[in-house]
Amino acid sequence: TAKHKSYEIGVSQCSSGEWREKINNEMLSAQHLYDSEAKINIVNCYNDPKLQVRQIDSLIDAGVDLLIVSPYEYTQLEPSLAKAKKKNIPVVLFDRKSKSNNYTAYIGGDNVEAGRKLANYTLSMIRDGDVKPEGRKPIVWEMTGPMTMSPAKDRHDGFCSVIKKQTNIDYFNTESDWTPEDCYRQMKTYLQSGKQVDVVFCHSDIDAVGAFKAAKELGKEKNIKFLGIDGLPGKDGGLEQVKNGVLTGTYIYPTHGEEIIQLVLNILDCKPYERNTTIQSFVVTPQNVNDIIMSTNLIIKQNNYLVTIKNKLENYLGLYNLQRSVLYISIVA
Ligand code: FRU
Repeated sequence: TAKHKSYEIGVSQCSSGEWREKINNEMLSAQHLYDSEAKINIVNCYNDPKLQVRQIDSLIDAGVDLLIVSPYEYTQLEPSLAKAKKKNIPVVLFDRKSKSNNYTAYIGGDNVEAGRKLANYTLSMIRDGDVKPEGRKPIVWEMTGPMTMSPAKDRHDGFCSVIKKQTNIDYFNTESDWTPEDCYRQMKTYLQSGKQVDVVFCHSDIDAVGAFKAAKELGKEKNIKFLGIDGLPGKDGGLEQVKNGVLTGTYIYPTHGEEIIQLVLNILDCKPYERNTTIQSFVVTPQNVNDIIMSTNLIIKQNNYLVTIKNKLENYLGLYNLQRSVLYISIVA
């Protein structure tokens, strides 16, 4: 059809892991959802900021129509984004923000709210007596991601804004490199030195599971509540970790690959779009986790149906076109 357009889109991912896999897959399947066609090429710098700069440069040099970027650090991509602007390549940032104002649109979860909601959940656990240390104030430890990355900074600001107001809580925070190994090490060293803690909030679920493992090895996990962020479905995902009692809570950090592609196509098709989109979400607790897993599974099942239908249609159309050309060949022959 005349309206059908095809675009080359470059995606620069800053890191790996299940959360990124999920959003990558959503973007790739969304290629087929809309009127215009988007050819998506995803590259990953695996936590190497210099590599991310080089990868964005190559995508620009390859002449992509648009760039989708999750900046590894807040102050790292200014020259790259300026270069894209100079070449009139629109840039959509997602998940992590950049200090640069040279971007066309941003879409992502609300990390300040994530921190705030988990802090309020912590307060409710203390109020309800789920956290009840003998003869001292409850101790709350926030193990943050690197403060050079916008989600970690925002999660910390949100959590802190609520917790710091509480005089009945002993709060402290440390920075991690945002890996389960580091959180495991920090937890182990802390507990081995004989110190106590009641609530540990790590900036991602896999990190909280790392901290849990250290406590478990020392036989001290029972009286500690572990909180994380991401809330992924699947075997080792955050939802299961809440269900099986390893985590006491998580926040679903929304993946939103389809929305990213919708936004991107609106930009490329010169349709109206929001410059900043914040996706709201919620805290998962042992009380609501079963319902959430149930509805998540339903969505996954329906998505699988759609993929099956798409594959069948493609097979069918392939066959149809083949028959048409065979017919054509036999007519002209
Ligand atoms: C994955 C991840 C998530 C986290 C997000 C924040 O790379 O570390 O666990 O929620 O990035 O940018």
